[in-house]
Amino acid sequence: MKIKLIIFFVVFIGLINISISENSGCVNGTSEDCGIYFYTYETICSFSNSIRDEDEYELYYVQAPLLYATYGNLLEKINAYHSGIALYNKNGGPNISLDFFAYPSFENTLLPKSIIKDENGNYNITWDTYALIEVTNYINETYWNKRELIMYDITGSQVKQYLNWAPYYNKTHTFYNLFGIESASLKNDSSIIYKNSFTCDDFVWESFNIFYQLGGSMGGVQSDPPRDEITLFTTVKPTIVDYNNATERNLIATFYLDLMDLANLGKNQTALQIFNNLISLFNGSFYCFIDGVYYKMNLSKQSPISFTYLPSPMPTGKRDSSAIKKVDYCRSKIPINDQKK
Ligand SMILES: *[C@@H]1O[C@H](CO)[C@@H](O)[C@H](O)[C@H]1NC(C)=O
Ligand SMILES: *[C@@H]1O[C@H](CO)[C@@H](O)[C@H](O)[C@H]1NC(C)=O
Ligand SMILES: *[C@@H]1O[C@H](CO)[C@@H](O)[C@H](O)[C@H]1NC(C)=O
Ligand SMILES: *[C@@H]1O[C@H](CO)[C@@H](O)[C@H](O)[C@H]1NC(C)=O
Ligand SMILES: *[C@@H]1O[C@H](CO)[C@@H](O)[C@H](O)[C@H]1NC(C)=O
Ligand SMILES: *[C@@H]1O[C@H](CO)[C@@H](O)[C@H](O)[C@H]1NC(C)=O
Ligand SMILES: *[C@@H]1O[C@H](CO)[C@@H](O)[C@H](O)[C@H]1NC(C)=O
Ligand SMILES: *[C@@H]1O[C@H](CO)[C@@H](O)[C@H](O)[C@H]1NC(C)=O
Ligand SMILES: *[C@@H]1O[C@H](CO)[C@@H](O)[C@H](O)[C@H]1NC(C)=O
Ligand SMILES: *[C@@H]1O[C@H](CO)[C@@H](O)[C@H](O)[C@H]1NC(C)=O
Repeated sequence: MKIKLIIFFVVFIGLINISISENSGCVNGTSEDCGIYFYTYETICSFSNSIRDEDEYELYYVQAPLLYATYGNLLEKINAYHSGIALYNKNGGPNISLDFFAYPSFENTLLPKSIIKDENGNYNITWDTYALIEVTNYINETYWNKRELIMYDITGSQVKQYLNWAPYYNKTHTFYNLFGIESASLKNDSSIIYKNSFTCDDFVWESFNIFYQLGGSMGGVQSDPPRDEITLFTTVKPTIVDYNNATERNLIATFYLDLMDLANLGKNQTALQIFNNLISLFNGSFYCFIDGVYYKMNLSKQSPISFTYLPSPMPTGKRDSSAIKKVDYCRSKIPINDQKK
């Protein structure tokens, strides 16, 4: 367990710097030739229109070793994956893959872009971190090297409805939350979930649910497929810190300056040194930037963090597609490079 934690921290603190283009292994990342589109209102319709209502699709859970472009298959050894869904068209129409990822990188979800002091000696912290859904009109089977059939008998029409839901998810999940937050185990042995993660896997499981509600037939799944899950355990209820209060803000800034130092230093330290430094930085209260606000909490000393890869339940029960939220307007397709610049 400890070795997993160390690798995990080494990877997530400071040593990584992937870019979106490396994410799916597309070299230029910005060209339409790559078949990669950002999921925007502008791109969704023309793509959707190329799908025939009566075509039959199969839904796969696909995984790639996390940070493949930087580390190759290394992170697969600790079951750290990036995940998505792949929709195979059985009638020659477009295959589709979708994934939810942190832009511009994972590192940016953990560390601020800048911390500067203003003329009054107060700090100003800025972030550059978003979550985005990416859609491609082909499935890169070299990149997505693990796959499992989840559902079959999905119609093109259901895929279109799903494609109208995905932007809604994107819109309501503007940040990538790597961690869930739970209470450290209580005397009565139950725990309180304070925050859910919003990761690639959360998106994938929500996608399974949407296709289930739309009527997809469950198939091929012998047992529930596994997913990654990272949880921080806190001994106090996380409280939102008032960023506008300069005293509070300076405390937050001090914490993040230490964390950034550690990340920089980390490049020259052994994994164990990094680990020990992190343990002392997270000794007592610390801050977390979640959904655009700062939370303060205390990490449990007994079990500060868990990193699991366990089977997670598939949707069951009565289906109801009427509750699925969708976006409903479309414009013309705009290539990804025009979106970003
Ligand atoms: C598919 O993914 C692999 C591995 O990431 C990458 O080397 C290759 O360029 C990708 N192919 C396309 C067409 O994007
Ligand atoms: C990538 O960019 C290079 C240089 O701009 C260009 O020569 C090449 O054709 C591009 N490849 C793709 C797949 O767009
Ligand atoms: C997805 O989210 C990004 C960033 O929050 C935004 O720029 C983009 O327009 C969103 N796309 C849709 C379809 O909501
Ligand atoms: C979709 O994927 C299947 C299976 O790999 C392949 O046979 C088919 O040609 C692909 N369709 C398109 C339009 O590329
Ligand atoms: C903090 O920095 C950002 C970006 O540099 C700027 O837009 C914002 O006005 C600054 N806030 C304060 C309180 O100085
Ligand atoms: C367990 O204890 C916590 C805090 O004392 C309480 O909030 C929670 O409701 C309890 N759970 C159960 C199942 O009794
Ligand atoms: C700002 O935060 C400090 C430290 O928590 C607190 O003592 C002070 O009362 C706060 N100021 C305001 C105006 O809320
Ligand atoms: C890391 O070590 C190298 C060589 O020992 C040194 O040149 C460099 O400045 C060090 N970097 C940091 C961030 O300490
Ligand atoms: C954590 O803080 C406590 C109290 O300040 C101290 O006694 C302990 O040695 C610290 N532990 C580590 C690992 O830094
Ligand atoms: C949380 O950490 C703060 C600062 O180190 C400390 O004063 C406080 O007692 C801790 N609370 C709990 C419940 O551990």
